[in-house]
Amino acid sequence: MPDAYGVDTLADLMMDLISRPRRNRKSEAIRAFHRETVLAPQHLVYPVFIHDGKGTQPIASMPGCARLSLEALLAEAEGALSEGVSAMVLFPAIADELKSSQGEEAYRADGLVPRAIRALKNRFPELIVVTDVALDPYSSDGHDGIVQGGKILNDETVEVLCKQALCQAQAGADIIAPSDMMDGRVAAIRDTLDDAGFTDVSILSYTAKYASAFYGPFRDALDSAPKFGDKKTYQMDPANAREALRELALDESEGADMVMVKPAGPYLDVIHRVREYTTLPVAAYQVSGEYAMLKAASQNGWLEEKRVVLESLLGIRRAGADVILTYYARQAARWLRQ
Ligand code: PBG
Repeated sequence: MPDAYGVDTLADLMMDLISRPRRNRKSEAIRAFHRETVLAPQHLVYPVFIHDGKGTQPIASMPGCARLSLEALLAEAEGALSEGVSAMVLFPAIADELKSSQGEEAYRADGLVPRAIRALKNRFPELIVVTDVALDPYSSDGHDGIVQGGKILNDETVEVLCKQALCQAQAGADIIAPSDMMDGRVAAIRDTLDDAGFTDVSILSYTAKYASAFYGPFRDALDSAPKFGDKKTYQMDPANAREALRELALDESEGADMVMVKPAGPYLDVIHRVREYTTLPVAAYQVSGEYAMLKAASQNGWLEEKRVVLESLLGIRRAGADVILTYYARQAARWLRQ
């Protein structure tokens, strides 16, 4: 208010100068105008565990997730598609007697994964089937590569990974996702696929995969924990972000179609940097330990499940991920459609 002489008081001047960002939050409609990040079912990829038996086997450290029989897998795929989730990643629980030091089961044409791919593509041709390339589910040592004298061999492992990728492509996989972190595997797999005529099969590389304690429940699900040592000579040191850009440059030059950061929540800065340095689509994996944390707190009534899950996924999108692998994919898609 001007005073008797028509001059604004100092307090009035301050009021004029104040910036009011709250104006852009005053109603849901206005907030929707200004919303920078969108999360929708098409951004979600659904990782599932499969086993070669009947029925479903619950996973203690991942309530709500189970090892699925092939029949249950088909039902799950049908449900996911109907909810708008168009991609699934398969992780097999392999019987102990089929595990070996060289992981031959990984590329048996009639193995569990190739049979699951064929069943899925047969029934749901439109479903995007993503397959994992790494030896850990098949390795009697519980490592992603071949072990000799306590060391993980790189080049010998890459040869087996190429056989595994080819076997998956022959069964009909749409996207091959190497999660093993061996050097040079993207180029070798690309070359193998192209030579066999699978030029249309994509590679989603686990580009920055960290040696993380958040994979614990996944290793329970597949009984795939390393029998000795850890995975620190191949998976990345959680302290490093610049190194992710080095892996990114290599994967791009080797022909990756998509790149991934894993885990997601504790590595949002890495997702952001990778997003800034590449024009390729970026994926992020909200891993089993992230799922277990959200689920446990929700089951205890300590957190509101729907809101924290959607917020965690939105945060991963905001950091720069185009797509998110999450065990919550179906549930989140249902929540997003409500
Ligand atoms: C192994 C693999 C792991 C995961 C995906 N692929 C575990 C590991 O590296 O030990 C973890 C996924 C999760 O925790 O949800 N190739």
